[in-house]
Amino acid sequence: MFRIAYVNGRYLPHAAARVHVEDRGYQFADGVYEVCEVRHGRLVDERRHLDRLARSLSELRIAMPLARAALGVVMRETVRKNRVRDGIVYLQVTRGVASRDHGFPPPGTRPSLVVTARAIDPVKQAALAEAGIAVVTVPDNRWERVDIKSIALLPNVLARQAARDRGAREAWFVDQDGLVTEGSATNAWIVTAAGRIVTRPAEFGILRGITRAVVLEIAAKQGLKVEERPFSVAESHAAREAFATAASQIVMPVVEIDGRPIGDGRPGPVARALRARFHDSAECS
Ligand code: PDD
Repeated sequence: MFRIAYVNGRYLPHAAARVHVEDRGYQFADGVYEVCEVRHGRLVDERRHLDRLARSLSELRIAMPLARAALGVVMRETVRKNRVRDGIVYLQVTRGVASRDHGFPPPGTRPSLVVTARAIDPVKQAALAEAGIAVVTVPDNRWERVDIKSIALLPNVLARQAARDRGAREAWFVDQDGLVTEGSATNAWIVTAAGRIVTRPAEFGILRGITRAVVLEIAAKQGLKVEERPFSVAESHAAREAFATAASQIVMPVVEIDGRPIGDGRPGPVARALRARFHDSAECS
C-alpha cells in the first residue's frame, strides 16, 4: 500500500521519508512520542494525548514543534493521506539535528517532528481480543522517569522480544518488590476473585496511560469497584481476570500469565464489557 509520512513540514512517500544522521532522536533517543487510536477515520482522545505530549516535552525541556491546533491538523492530514479508517497515528518529536554533543544543542535548534499513520484490521483485532493474549513477567530494569513517554525504549524492546521468545504477546515488568508495574507498551490490570479491578497507581513506576484513564472513568460510571494499588505477580496468577490497555489495542484480555491460565483461561466478562463500552466514553474528534 502507498504510504505517506510527515517529516518536518513535508508529506513524503513513506519509503523516502528520512531524518538526518545527527538527529538527536537517532543518536541519543532524545525525544518523545505519542500513539493515538484512529477509529472510523477520527482521532480518539486527541486532547489527552496532546496534553501528555506537552507534559513529556516540558519535562525534557524540548519546545513544542508546532502549535497544538497545527499538530492536530498534521495528524488528521497524515491519517487522511494514508486512507487510514481504523488504526493508529504515531507522532514523534526529538530535540532536533545538531553536531553530536551530549549537552543540549545551541538555542534555536528546531525540534524534529515526524508523523506516520498505519491501518490496523479491526476484524483481526477483535479476533485477538476474543481469544485473549498470553503475558510473561520480566524484571523492570527501566529508569525512574517512565512517566515521560520517551522514545528511549530499549528495556521495552527487550521485554517484548522476551515475551515473543516465550510464545507470549506482552511482557509485564515487575519491580524489586515483586509488584507488577506495567507492560512493555501497555498498562496492566487484574480483576480479583472478589471482583475488584486493580491497577497500579499512576504516581510512580508507570506511564499514565490515556486508555487507563478512560477505563477508570468507565468503571466509575458503571459503579465497578476499583482499587488503584500495586499488585504482585502471585496475585495476578490467582486473579479471576487480567487485561492490558493501550491506545493501540484498547482493552486486551489476558488469558495466561507465565504459562498459567487466568480464571477459566478465556477472556473474562469485566474485560469484555470494558472493551465493548470503551468508545462510548473516549473522545472522538
Ligand atoms: N504504548 N505503558 C507503556 C510503557 C506504553 O508504552 C503505553 C502505550 C501504555 C498505554 O498508554 P496509552 O493508553 O496512553 O496508549 C502504557 C504505545 C501504544 C506504544 O508504544 O505503541
